[in-house]
Amino acid sequence: MQEKIIVIDFGGQYNQLVARRVRECNVYCEIYSYRTDIAKIKEMQPKGIILTGGPNSCYEPGAPGCTKELFEIGVPVLGLCYGAQLMMHVLGGRVEKAPVREYGKTELYVDSSAELFKDVPEDTICWMSHFDYISETAPGFGIIAHTDNCPVAAAHYPEKGLYAIQFHPEVLHTVYGTKMLYNFVRNICGCSGDWHMDSFAAEKIKEIREKVGDGRVLLALSGGVDSSVAAGLLSRAIGKQLTCVFVDHGLLRKNEGDEVEAVFGEHGQFDLNFIRVNAAERYYDKLKGVTEPEKKRKIIGEEFIRVFEEEAKKIGAVDYLAQGTIYPDVVESGLGGESAVIKSHHNVGGLPDYVDFKEIIEPLRNLFKDEVRKVGMELGLPDNLVYRQPFPGPGLGIRIIGEVTAEKVRIVQDADYIYREEIDKAGLSRSIGQYFAALTNMRSVGVMGDERTYDYAVALRAVNTVDFMTAEAAEIPFEVLQTVMSRIINEVRGVNRVFYDLTSKPPGTIEFE
Ligand code: XMP
Repeated sequence: MQEKIIVIDFGGQYNQLVARRVRECNVYCEIYSYRTDIAKIKEMQPKGIILTGGPNSCYEPGAPGCTKELFEIGVPVLGLCYGAQLMMHVLGGRVEKAPVREYGKTELYVDSSAELFKDVPEDTICWMSHFDYISETAPGFGIIAHTDNCPVAAAHYPEKGLYAIQFHPEVLHTVYGTKMLYNFVRNICGCSGDWHMDSFAAEKIKEIREKVGDGRVLLALSGGVDSSVAAGLLSRAIGKQLTCVFVDHGLLRKNEGDEVEAVFGEHGQFDLNFIRVNAAERYYDKLKGVTEPEKKRKIIGEEFIRVFEEEAKKIGAVDYLAQGTIYPDVVESGLGGESAVIKSHHNVGGLPDYVDFKEIIEPLRNLFKDEVRKVGMELGLPDNLVYRQPFPGPGLGIRIIGEVTAEKVRIVQDADYIYREEIDKAGLSRSIGQYFAALTNMRSVGVMGDERTYDYAVALRAVNTVDFMTAEAAEIPFEVLQTVMSRIINEVRGVNRVFYDLTSKPPGTIEFE
């Protein structure tokens, strides 16, 4: 049985990060809401439990809580921020509004003889974000860290396996945060660290083979990281029993359709049936005259379903429909944790329930994005595919403000291509979360040679983000922006102005529509 840590979600913003960091310690973990029945938690036989942060005050009526029983299961428990306060509150300590609210990087003094802080320097930096504080620890606890404003930055009761940390070890600003989590899951909980992506790939391939037998599987391949890795795994497991349908909606980045075909098509490295549908004209037709963003999204989504359905009909009944769902999708759809992430958009495709299949296979359902990438590398997918930045399902359709036309698609594709090329040359491609060119619907007067022009303005966007829910404009060196600007204006017909978008999210979104 797989060693497992359970992360109990109290609604904090960093909860998926907690789970990711634990997995970086080669320990498998899963996120569950604090509402999960204690019997179910026991049944899963975790090696340890981590309580996350959350936005509430634990002493207020109706705040998310837990019972004493959670601390008496017989496995170590680590409370983080709200989780730490809750642990103290439930076990007889005292939590109240802090005289000084701490937020941001904070100097931390730790007792490095404590198991939790093994190999952590006595004076280090942590990330704090709290307005309540532990004013009195529960009976039996010893204080093992403090800051200038926080007398109990960490406490423990090793005989009972209970640990509380007021700050956020999961956030990278806590310099030794991963070390602290490592100490907890590996040393205190005694996990051996058996979670590795190479063995994951091998086991998954075996599992798929056993499950599918000689059945047939259909997958909608978008060329994104998730569906590509799913296709790779399935192909290694069942070869030609897999059929991938790739719908090129004419709203992809420049050359992207051909790149996907080069990897998965007839001359690619994988054994599978690859069907490419060139549906650009259909999409442009449907989008003619449509300017309203949500309507465009809807048309693009629906058209995908229609095209996919037509292909599925040609293929006939299949046994399984495969999807590239990954763990954040599961958690964010409310099935895992507590985090109420409201997404107005869905990946194109959703679940085509009219396709004739018996069951769904989601081979990446338990993986985070960085883990999916590791599996992709294991499978020998090309770097540029594995490290591709996110690309929205509706594609360039939502990077062209207003009506979509073939001409506008060409402009945005060419401008975006130049932008990506220059970012790459400047060595910035891995350090920026997401970057792309968009086409504003604005035309303005310019001058080229002796001629007056009246052309479009391209907007460049680049953001840094942890979770794509909030983001900041990236600081790109001015020379790089200038090179991109002059290349776009010189090389892309129909553009005479280039803007750089400085807007954070919120209030902006990352995409333009
Ligand atoms: P926004 O624009 O909402 O984008 O700040 C956040 C992240 O989600 C991506 N995005 C989408 N992905 N279908 C998708 O699959 C969509 O309709 C969609 N809209 C935005 C966006 O690229 C960014 O990474």
